[in-house]
Amino acid sequence: MLYLGIDSGTQSTKAIVLDVETGAILADASQGYGLVEGLPPGHLEQHPEDWFEAVRATVASCLDQIGERRRDVRGIGVSGQQHGLVVLDGEGAVVRPAKLWCDTSTAAQCAEFEAAFGGKEGLIARTGNAMLPGYTIPKLLWLKQNEPDRFRLVRSVLLPHDYLNYRLTGVMRMEYGDASGTGILNVRTREWDRELTAFVDPAVDAMLPELGSSNAVHGTLLPELAAEWGLSPEVLVSAGGGDNMMGAIGTGNLGGGVVTASFGTSGTLYASSEQPIVDPKGEVAAFCDSTDRWLPLVCTMNVTVATEQVRSWFGWDLAELERQVESVPAGADGVAFLPYLTGERTPNLPQGTGVLHGLGSACASTAHLARAAMEGATLGLGYGLRRFAELGLTPSEIRLTGGGSKSAVWRQISADVFGVPVVALATAEGAGLGGAIQAAFADGQGSYAELSDRLVALDESTRCSPSPDRVGLYREKLDRQMELTFLLRDGGWL
Ligand code: XUL
Repeated sequence: MLYLGIDSGTQSTKAIVLDVETGAILADASQGYGLVEGLPPGHLEQHPEDWFEAVRATVASCLDQIGERRRDVRGIGVSGQQHGLVVLDGEGAVVRPAKLWCDTSTAAQCAEFEAAFGGKEGLIARTGNAMLPGYTIPKLLWLKQNEPDRFRLVRSVLLPHDYLNYRLTGVMRMEYGDASGTGILNVRTREWDRELTAFVDPAVDAMLPELGSSNAVHGTLLPELAAEWGLSPEVLVSAGGGDNMMGAIGTGNLGGGVVTASFGTSGTLYASSEQPIVDPKGEVAAFCDSTDRWLPLVCTMNVTVATEQVRSWFGWDLAELERQVESVPAGADGVAFLPYLTGERTPNLPQGTGVLHGLGSACASTAHLARAAMEGATLGLGYGLRRFAELGLTPSEIRLTGGGSKSAVWRQISADVFGVPVVALATAEGAGLGGAIQAAFADGQGSYAELSDRLVALDESTRCSPSPDRVGLYREKLDRQMELTFLLRDGGWL
């Protein structure tokens, strides 16, 4: 029996076909897309139609690769970038491009929520989460204030993966995991906070679709898509989830102290939990997962953003980046790169920018810049791991996923920055695998524990242990990175 996993990311959509009997990934495909061009700084948007076209293309390519075996496909699970605001009119048509998780243009709207609801503390008491520009609901308030004519057309609000589920099945629905990143879900009760929605507009309640269990089936593939793809019209679409929630499933992060670090455009650290974990400081997000449990999570906005920026400055391919980073010792001879190129969520610096510090004539090479960027992005997650420890989450091992986990030098830097062994998964596409596993679960192929034991494989050849010397060096470098960050922030420079 085969299941399709789809991961709709910020840079591309990836699809895989998983054989649940053998655990083999029989096919994979990806298609990239860009951002809406020409917008002011901080405004990051995409056309939901581009996501759906990429789903169409990648699914078609995967099915071509498996030929006749397409008859064995029984389900589809969709993972999507979290938090994006998809607004639809009464006909189900997209009203405007989606503002994304990395759009930081809504800092003023977050401040309005804080002023009305007792500050960050008041919001955390209500929902479990602070109100941050990345989240969905400040984007809707922004829309009402900045584009009232478009706001008036809106009848439905969906998240990116909900939108793809809608295009696949015709059904609008949200599940707890991704819904917990909207800013209006009380994660303790898994109910909408109606005072927060009313603060945006009395019409918002009616814009939210049915909300329910992530373990439920979302719907059945639309007959026209089943015909286009040559699939059975009985193919189910599972509830899906945000990419981190699906990454948790796809990396076997189902409790027992497992922590996953995802090195994608953004960086995330997360752990599955039987209870909501609410951070009084609001730095660890108190999200739900997509198996009806919880997923404390730290997100930084600049991980491969930083390394890709360096790569594009110098025109390197990935192998050259790897060589350059390896050619410089741990610590980059004191060069620090604060990686806030697109603003930052943790720490909350929506107006943040990148900063280089510690350049000297002996260390002003392109290689130093590259190493400092990789280290700076990883140290940002190291800051999150410190906060995890303060909340009692102390991993004995961290599983790496996402594009950055393919780099050997980056894996060693992670082990040294995190101070615990790290290991990558057999597939870097944890979120897509999570989608396929969730679809198998929804189709009754076994519990998550059984499926994960069988289908999630670590790549032992990637295991790295921290070296005590470098752990100490990076601890100091992290102290310096955060001290510089807070000094610059408090001086009004970030
Ligand atoms: C997490 C977050 C990012 C996106 C990336 O809260 O905003 O990791 O999900 O797609």
